[in-house]
Amino acid sequence: MPELNLCLLPGDGIGPEVTDAAMAVLGAAGQRFGFTCRTQTQLIGGAALRAANSPLPDATRAAVTAVQAVLLGAVGAPEFDREPPARKPETGLLGLRKLLGCWANLRPLRRIPGAGTTPVREEIVAGTDLIVLRELTGGLYFGEPRGFSSNRQEAFNTLRYTVTEIERLARFGFGLARQRRHHLTSVDKANVLEVSQLWREVFNRVALDYPDVTLDHMYVDNCAMQLILRPTFFDVLATANLFGDILSDETGVLAGSLGLLPSASLGGAVGLYEPVHGSAPDLAGKGVANPVGAILSAAMLLRHSFQLEAPAAAIEHAVTAALQAGVRTRDLAAPGTAAVSTAAMTQAIIARL
Ligand code: IPM
Ligand code: MN
Repeated sequence: MPELNLCLLPGDGIGPEVTDAAMAVLGAAGQRFGFTCRTQTQLIGGAALRAANSPLPDATRAAVTAVQAVLLGAVGAPEFDREPPARKPETGLLGLRKLLGCWANLRPLRRIPGAGTTPVREEIVAGTDLIVLRELTGGLYFGEPRGFSSNRQEAFNTLRYTVTEIERLARFGFGLARQRRHHLTSVDKANVLEVSQLWREVFNRVALDYPDVTLDHMYVDNCAMQLILRPTFFDVLATANLFGDILSDETGVLAGSLGLLPSASLGGAVGLYEPVHGSAPDLAGKGVANPVGAILSAAMLLRHSFQLEAPAAAIEHAVTAALQAGVRTRDLAAPGTAAVSTAAMTQAIIARL
């Protein structure tokens, strides 16, 4: 029986609750499909700052590089909002992505009919099935120089990409499109930014190796609009780090809630899996958080780090079945209708495995 060697990083806010839910589902899937999980839990983010004075302590760094995959809850805590970068929870997450070399971030969205209310009309979102492929270890998030001028009258960040970074993401995107509907949309701001002009050149050159995939280019401002107007246009949407961060929150609206969206961060030896949502401090500790993003992240972990397609698909089907049966956490419930707890949602999914 395969044993999956995992590191859990529950993190902040609702992170511990949704990580517990995902582990419960992994445990149930393991019993049914014949695998076990060996887990160790480590600190990250605000929890790590409080306990070890670092958002990514050495013990965590050592642990995540010694396992096969990492499942993360969320990072972010308001008490650190005004602290310098070294004392911000988010710095721990960015450091983790960099440490693991996870440059390819997959954020899939498949609209489940009727799952969650969305301000976008059902006939527009119906059938939406797309993946945001976000570059995760470069761009504006990591570019140097960065900082404040000495008198704090100026601040600066650097947007920088190398051909190597763009090309590996492009090849990943074309490969992904090939397994799907053979349509790749590269999103940039090439009417203004040199970086985006290089980005376009590289995508066009790589496209010659994938003649069976249709490539189109879209400006990011237009893309923000097209995602709402005609989301079914998109298959694979490849973009830079900051643009992908922004556009993937928008896909949360199409899904019905950001709480439904999972992600996988790939490219290095160890895969990192985390829900797209944040730490939601206002919901923390109340048992009301939506665990689906974390549970679907666990399904992605089975698929991408362990090639366990059958249990991954079973978890995804169980989530769809629970949502279609009308089981709703607070974020999904229509105003005035009943909502279930994190634990009840998790049990509803396990019952359908
Ligand atoms: C995300 C988050 C992170 C990001 C934050 C918490 C640093 O918003 O994963 O989308 O900006 O990448
Ligand atoms: Mn984000």
